[in-house]
Amino acid sequence: NVDKLLLKNVSLIEFGRYRMKPWYFSPYPEDLVTGLECLFICEFCLKYVASLSCLKRHLVKCQRKHPPGREIYRNGSISFFEVDGRKDKEYVKNLCLLSKLFLDHKWVAYDSDIFLFYVMTMADNRGCHLVGYFSKVKESPENYNVACILTLPPYQRKGYGKLMIEFSYELSKREGKLGSPEKPLSDFGLLSYRSYWSQTVLDILCSYKKAVWMEVDDGDDGRVKISIEQICELTSIKKEDVISTLQNLNVLTYYQGGYVIVLAKEMVTKYEERKKAAAGELKLDPKCLYWTPKL
Ligand code: COA
Ligand code: NA
Repeated sequence: NVDKLLLKNVSLIEFGRYRMKPWYFSPYPEDLVTGLECLFICEFCLKYVASLSCLKRHLVKCQRKHPPGREIYRNGSISFFEVDGRKDKEYVKNLCLLSKLFLDHKWVAYDSDIFLFYVMTMADNRGCHLVGYFSKVKESPENYNVACILTLPPYQRKGYGKLMIEFSYELSKREGKLGSPEKPLSDFGLLSYRSYWSQTVLDILCSYKKAVWMEVDDGDDGRVKISIEQICELTSIKKEDVISTLQNLNVLTYYQGGYVIVLAKEMVTKYEERKKAAAGELKLDPKCLYWTPKL
């Protein structure tokens, strides 16, 4: 029933200390949410109930203070938990229901067994609060490293999306693979990836700057001595995405029968200014990741 799928069916949710207005339809039980003013969701186990008193009763029993699965990353108050869709079915089903409220087209719960979920939390004395997550198929012949990615609305536009993207590439790095997100990406998803890719590629280019890329004459003209394959290897970003990033950055120049990467001085200056301004931004610390790929 197409009509029903397009209609937003939950008007409001209460989640921990936040109230959020859903963006899209999510298949919560129809008889529970129809006409309901607000859906109350336990921020730790993600169970949903129809009233505050039900939630209070639930909270007396609910022992959960963090996501299930294994905590594989902790840096300050930020943690990542690896949750297996086959093992923690109830949690994952509820996570998918919650995230569908903010996802237009992707729906992963049809077979959550084949996914791992990387759940990012922020801790305080009450527990580990859900900030966002991304899912990843356990086995991907195409080396997809993200299926769905979501930052809960109260945490959006603060750098958490890019932190999760960085995390997904760190996992690919450890697997010795070049990864890429599953398509199609949403508008915000594409914006976030473009921003992550160009910053990451620029980091590398600027540290290699002023050398020759392919076999062309040396000279202090901003040419960068690095191959696309080297960029891929250093970043775990797959070739097509590196090429589109270089094109977007407008740094590919045709020169004597081949392409060279040329960084304009203004670009480097702008990059360095941005870098200074971003000094306090969220960064992943690979030393805080305790994870090796399953063989
Ligand atoms: N408007 C304009 N730019 C936006 C934006 C918005 N609403 N949301 C993100 N961006 C840009 C930011 O400018 C930032 O780039 P910058 O650092 O160069 O300025 C970049 O995207 C990433 O921002 P960040 O704060 O790290 O991302 P986020 O925590 O807000 O999360 C998503 C990004 C995509 C995960 C989040 O928007 C989301 O959950 N959306 C709903 C679900 C979705 O569409 N997921 C992707 C498809 S599977
Ligand atoms: Na941001």
